[in-house]
Amino acid sequence: MDRNVNRGGRPRVLVPIEWRDDVEAVRIIDQTLLPEELRYVDVVTVDQMCEAISKLRVRGAPAIGVAGALGVYLGMRGHEGDSAEAFARALEDVCQRVSSVRPTAVNLSWAVGRVQAAAKREMASGDAYAKAGARAAILDEALAIMDEDRRCCELIGLHGAELIPDGARVLTHCNAGALATAGIGTALAPIYVRHSQGARLKVWADETRPLLQGARLTAYELSQAGIDVTVICDNMAASLMAAGKVDLVIVGADRVAANGDVCNKIGTYGLACAAWVHQIPFYVACPTSTLDLSIRRGEDIPIEERGQEEVACGLGRRTVPEGVAIYNPAFDVTPARMVTAIITERGIARPPYGRGLARLMQSEDGSAGKTH
Ligand code: MRU
Repeated sequence: MDRNVNRGGRPRVLVPIEWRDDVEAVRIIDQTLLPEELRYVDVVTVDQMCEAISKLRVRGAPAIGVAGALGVYLGMRGHEGDSAEAFARALEDVCQRVSSVRPTAVNLSWAVGRVQAAAKREMASGDAYAKAGARAAILDEALAIMDEDRRCCELIGLHGAELIPDGARVLTHCNAGALATAGIGTALAPIYVRHSQGARLKVWADETRPLLQGARLTAYELSQAGIDVTVICDNMAASLMAAGKVDLVIVGADRVAANGDVCNKIGTYGLACAAWVHQIPFYVACPTSTLDLSIRRGEDIPIEERGQEEVACGLGRRTVPEGVAIYNPAFDVTPARMVTAIITERGIARPPYGRGLARLMQSEDGSAGKTH
């Protein structure tokens, strides 16, 4: 199957993760090689999957959820012959290992929790085939998560498209597109939908230091789709806003707290401050699997700190003197008051978020959550 076909006139969408039954492997795009090389890699062990998630070969909150769920399936290979106790212990260990690879995006622990619960339900039957059934249930659940995410992206695109006028100049940060999900993305989904509707759009893609997901990935996928995209360094965004060159900002999220505080790629908060000063709408797009109502406020969200070499040598050569201290938090928190709206597959939430997000989580079809 051609993984990059242009179905039904839709923008050409990259598929960063898929399950290959024929080779019992998870096929990912190694995103560390983009934009120079589009290479597909088969991941066949849980160790390889943990490495791929940790090194950002597969990345973006929804995509690492799918990767983690499939990683659990790989990790349980060969355990079908274990005693029930040994199988349960192995499942616990694998889930624990996978979900702790990256702490900030709640989609990872959420998806791992889902496949673990599916396996446990199967084990509860207690019959001789329960372990094989449990492993099959992990795969079924992981594939269901992948399908749901694809559908979520489409719905986010449709809801969010209503917020983007024809001719809009849209600024985005990091990569919350097809490369970060199982579908057409979150922040980029409304852009893809508006583009397919014939709207004339211009996208400013923040470079996104230190790992350049905006320059390498957002620019790559939007230009592949024929969308007008211009890369800027992160420190240029505020002056573009001051010059009246930005109509709205739209970003993804790694975790949203119950009060609407949004955790996303480092630099998002600075962008929100600049948008706030210039009274530019600041939208966040994410599936409800990214909402974590168990966390009250953004400051309680765990922030991943990454290696110093990403800052010191992130551009391919050393740019910081040896021995100089480096601090590299991968995410920051934007306070809810700076967020104009949160676009989900179940509809759009607007302030006050406490009530709006709780209603979205309760609604199955989105009708209760729709505010537009
Ligand atoms: O470190 P990354 O590249 O995984 O960070 C990704 C982001 O911050 C995205 O904006 C977020 O995960 C949403 S992806 C739809």
